Amino acid sequence: MKIIAGNWKMNGSSDALKNMQDALRDVDTQNTVILCVPFTMLTPDGGRAAIGAQDVSAHDHGAFTGEVSAQMLRSAGAKYVIVGHSERRMYHGETNDIVRTKAESAIANDIIPIICVGETMDEKQAGKTMSVIESGVRESIPSDPRGKIIVAYEPRWAIGAGLTPTAAEIATAHELIAKTLESMGLGGTPVLYGASVKGNNAAEIMSIPNVDGVLVGGASLKPDDFIPIITAVK
Ligand code: 13P
Repeated sequence: MKIIAGNWKMNGSSDALKNMQDALRDVDTQNTVILCVPFTMLTPDGGRAAIGAQDVSAHDHGAFTGEVSAQMLRSAGAKYVIVGHSERRMYHGETNDIVRTKAESAIANDIIPIICVGETMDEKQAGKTMSVIESGVRESIPSDPRGKIIVAYEPRWAIGAGLTPTAAEIATAHELIAKTLESMGLGGTPVLYGASVKGNNAAEIMSIPNVDGVLVGGASLKPDDFIPIITAVK
């Protein structure tokens, strides 16, 4: 069984979500399906998919204009939240420390954080891919997550660019993440791959060892693109 998570980013509408939920209703799969939607589309009624958010405040409450707390997400129906997505790190300066604090807040409110790590093109070209991934895992995960986390490996240079690492590169990264998690006492934590996943590469990517599912951006927006990914593996 795999985990197929969609990240709608700043796209979609409540009507589009309803349309997706209708399309997912009869999909024959044992896989876990998660839809991470903008705050305004959160709903306790996810249908076949569990609903997730795409970010959470590091704070519980108070004078933080524009922010949304984990408790608020929970009461709006979110069961998951993406933290440390590449675009949050890039456009909002989120560091591993901030990401860890956000993950702690999610866990404290019974929301499973999907903690993203991955290297930029500059880091890749400087030969730092492995060290960035390992420090991302060690520093972004709370010290006592009690097993309630998902990790996502997103090579940041490949996101939205139509680029994908080779199967060997994905295998190497996921092996490192699995070993690092094991050394932290977190063996068995699901690890998703995310960047340019499509219907025509999903099965191959999910057959790579230590890949427990995928985090899908653009191809999660339309049922015709998303359903083939969900059904790519049984
Ligand atoms: P794409 O699938 O559009 O490359 O986006 C990946 C991503 O950022 C998922 O969180």
